[in-house]
Amino acid sequence: MTLQIDLTGRRALITGAGQGVGRGLAQAFASAGAEVLVNDLFDGRAEVVVEELHAAGGQARAAVFDVTDFDAVTKAIAAHSDIDILVNNAGNAGAEGFAGRGPFAESTPADWEPYLRVNLYGAMHCTRAVLPTMIEQKWGRIITIVSDAGRAGEANGAAYAASKAGAAGLTRSIALENGRYGITANNISLGTMRTPLTEPLWAEHGDSPQAKAILQNYAIRRPGSPDDPAHLAVLLASNHGSWITGQTIPVNGGYSFAL
Ligand SMILES: NC(=O)c1ccc[n+]([C@@H]2O[C@H](COP(=O)([O-])OP(=O)(O)OC[C@H]3O[C@@H](n4cnc5c(N)ncnc54)[C@H](O)[C@@H]3O)[C@@H](O)[C@H]2O)c1
Repeated sequence: MTLQIDLTGRRALITGAGQGVGRGLAQAFASAGAEVLVNDLFDGRAEVVVEELHAAGGQARAAVFDVTDFDAVTKAIAAHSDIDILVNNAGNAGAEGFAGRGPFAESTPADWEPYLRVNLYGAMHCTRAVLPTMIEQKWGRIITIVSDAGRAGEANGAAYAASKAGAAGLTRSIALENGRYGITANNISLGTMRTPLTEPLWAEHGDSPQAKAILQNYAIRRPGSPDDPAHLAVLLASNHGSWITGQTIPVNGGYSFAL
């Protein structure tokens, strides 16, 4: 048997695909033949990725909306219709490469809100908006990008960890409710990636003391690249993934393990 992953005829919405992990996901889904809806908050970012995908021979369209705005999400998803695959990737991990975090004991509800609004409510909004069509067509794939912070906890990142753990719990519930409709829902849990979000950490080619300290906790001593989770996401979204559901799969260079 030859392993062939062909998503031709599938339409995939990838949120926050204007850069970083989402851009890598968009490239992988387009190269597997899916039509990709490139979502981002910023139209300039989404358009650049759409142009890149077209230049590589892929099918793509920009879908600019804010995942935290449920009305905007439902309108945009209704306008694009028939989404087969949703990847909840848009995330807020704290501005400026993880700066702006701190001890929970010193935080306020206003500090928690940006994490919960994007990482948890954003995933809830998009998932809620795509499910009726997936149920009707009796096929669907929902993949949510979470973080090892949500599995293992993270000092000085409690709100971020809580938002990602919440999104992972949403996924498991969606998997249980919708498996009978041919819909799977899974999480991919990332370790520290090299993306524009974390670029300040790697600015000295990973030689900064902070980068070295982080990588000591990884069996494979490099940050993740957007390609690392992208091919797993394509597999989960294919027919080969039809019996994998409700799982949280770490793609993390061995930072922590799923037991
Ligand atoms: N970078 C890491 O080390 C790391 C580690 C673990 C998990 N993650 C998760 O991976 C995902 C992608 O991370 P990244 O490093 O590529 O982030 P990034 O900040 O580089 O890119 C995220 C993209 O999402 C867009 N976005 C943000 N808020 C949005 C909103 N409300 N609506 C629509 N688009 C929005 C941004 O404009 C940006 O283009 C996130 O969910 C993040 O939490 C990242």
